[in-house]
Amino acid sequence: MAKAQFGNKTPKKPITWTALKQMSRMYVHVKPYRGEFLVGLLMLLLSSGSNLAFPKYLGELVDAAQTDPSAIDGIALTLILILLAQSVFSFGRIFFFERVAQRSLASLRSAMYNHLVSLPLPFFHEKRIGELTNRLQSDIGVLQETFTSTLAEFIRQIVIIVGGIALLVYQSPSLTGFMLLVLPLVVILGVAFGSRIRKYAKDVQTASAESNTIVDETLSAVATVKAYTQEGFEKNRYRTALDHVAALGIRGGIYRGAFSSFIILGLFGALVAVIWKGASLIATGEMASGQLFSFVIYSGFIGGSVGGLADVYSRLQRAMGATEAIMAMLDEQPETSNPQPETSNQQSAASNQQPAVTFRNVHFAYPTRPDVPVLQGLNLEIREGQQCALVGSSGAGKSTVVQLLYRFHDPQQGELLVQGRDARDWPLDELRGRMAWVPQDVVLFGRSILENIRYSRPEASDEEVRRAAEDANAWEFIERFPDGWNTQVGERGVQLSGGQRQRIAIARAMLRDPKLLVLDEATSSLDPESESLVQGALETLMRGRTSLVIAHRLSTVRHADVIAFIHEGQIAEMGSHDELMQLDGGRYRAFVQKQWNGTLTSH
Ligand SMILES: Nc1ncnc2c1ncn2[C@@H]1O[C@H](COP(=O)(O)OP(=O)(O)O)[C@@H](O)[C@H]1O
Ligand SMILES: [Mg+2]
Repeated sequence: MAKAQFGNKTPKKPITWTALKQMSRMYVHVKPYRGEFLVGLLMLLLSSGSNLAFPKYLGELVDAAQTDPSAIDGIALTLILILLAQSVFSFGRIFFFERVAQRSLASLRSAMYNHLVSLPLPFFHEKRIGELTNRLQSDIGVLQETFTSTLAEFIRQIVIIVGGIALLVYQSPSLTGFMLLVLPLVVILGVAFGSRIRKYAKDVQTASAESNTIVDETLSAVATVKAYTQEGFEKNRYRTALDHVAALGIRGGIYRGAFSSFIILGLFGALVAVIWKGASLIATGEMASGQLFSFVIYSGFIGGSVGGLADVYSRLQRAMGATEAIMAMLDEQPETSNPQPETSNQQSAASNQQPAVTFRNVHFAYPTRPDVPVLQGLNLEIREGQQCALVGSSGAGKSTVVQLLYRFHDPQQGELLVQGRDARDWPLDELRGRMAWVPQDVVLFGRSILENIRYSRPEASDEEVRRAAEDANAWEFIERFPDGWNTQVGERGVQLSGGQRQRIAIARAMLRDPKLLVLDEATSSLDPESESLVQGALETLMRGRTSLVIAHRLSTVRHADVIAFIHEGQIAEMGSHDELMQLDGGRYRAFVQKQWNGTLTSH
């Protein structure tokens, strides 16, 4: 778990011009709020400025005690006013930056999501979904932090370092020179030291997570460990891992101890050095004691800011990484109706006289596995009103045919025509809008049953949804739920049985009233009773409708108008059930006989 989270962390990227240019593309989302951003920026400058004024008056207060006691109250009041101003500016800075960040990031997030859903299916096959949600969650989170705090901190640090040094030089050039010789060196060493220690702590954490894996793994499979009498082996393995963790931890302890000595000697040593030098300046009358007092506080501010810069720098690098990842995603090409403009010159027209679907010599391999041809010259024609069954062994390419029909992928060779018109010439939403698909594994949305059915036609009336559910043989079980069709189905629909999910998917397809119905093994994972219910629903759905039915059960297939048997990426046999059963040595016949034997032996 801990390991996975490490892995999800946005990687750092160097801050380069290209990276900054990438980041500037984000500006469109900030632009509507640029006025507020500038106000926030002003507030930030004012609050950092008033922060700088503070030590100066503190020093004057100390001096006033010796030189002019009547000024004490006035200076104290000024200090209070400065604090007041600073608190107002600081509130305003956070308020405005947060408003800008929240709204511009919502705009960026929604632009990313809009882009994501427009991307072609292969994109999602190549990426893990976790990686994509990570873009939306943690990468944007990094940017949010950048806009709300990192940027502000960075600017404040610069103001304090530059302004602070300027003020110090004004007060005492020689002491400033001395301080600048000592302090930054110590701070930078300290930062480098600190990051060493953090890296070390991470190593310890990783090693300790690894040792935990041994415990997890062996305890959850403890029967296997015992059955093979490997207890001794596992004990040793765990002990070795523990010794490794301990050794790393001890070395880390040495670093931490050294770090603390370094802080004592280095940081406080530097402080002593500055005060020593300052005291000698006071002794010669070159400096007032209040000045030294404010000088030390300024030095502390500057030291703190120099130290903080390293952290800010590493956070900015992470923001570069996030930007790069987000922009790479936004640069992905969305799916288009017509990826090859040249075909549009001779745009084919759709017509009802033409076959509903024609595959002509189609060759296809998945882009993720270009060397494995799936379809190799597939020819298939489904006429208007015809029920076509597609049969073949598992992995033969049946579902792939559906993927092409929906244009989730395009064939590499050959033609796919829908009503005589090249599938690529159809507007995508029109092409997909005329079909309904009951997929092999139905995944529902974690919403209500009603919302799931209505998904195919959001404007459908309650009455129409109800009729679709009845036709799908789903109404009975829906009615039995206490909440009826408002029943929540749980994440991905897990609170329903496979058969129930499938009947809801069928109701959804029915509600669509499609021109072409595509059923992909819609009854494959069902017990006989649900199967007969679903089967009945399917027959209602298919009546008088052009349909492509993928099935390996005889009961679904045998009444189809035409059966196509797919083998090695081609249609090997095609005809009615009776015709194909006549073929001596036919593949379909062998397939049917195997099922009969299976039925005989398994019952
Ligand atoms: N998204 C994918 N990427 C790469 N290969 C795939 C993908 N989907 C399916 N395949 C491969 O394509 C072949 C045909 O798969 P499919 O059409 O799902 O077969 P089926 O006839 O069982 O429905 C199989 O060898 C499968 O491994
Ligand atoms: Mg399949």
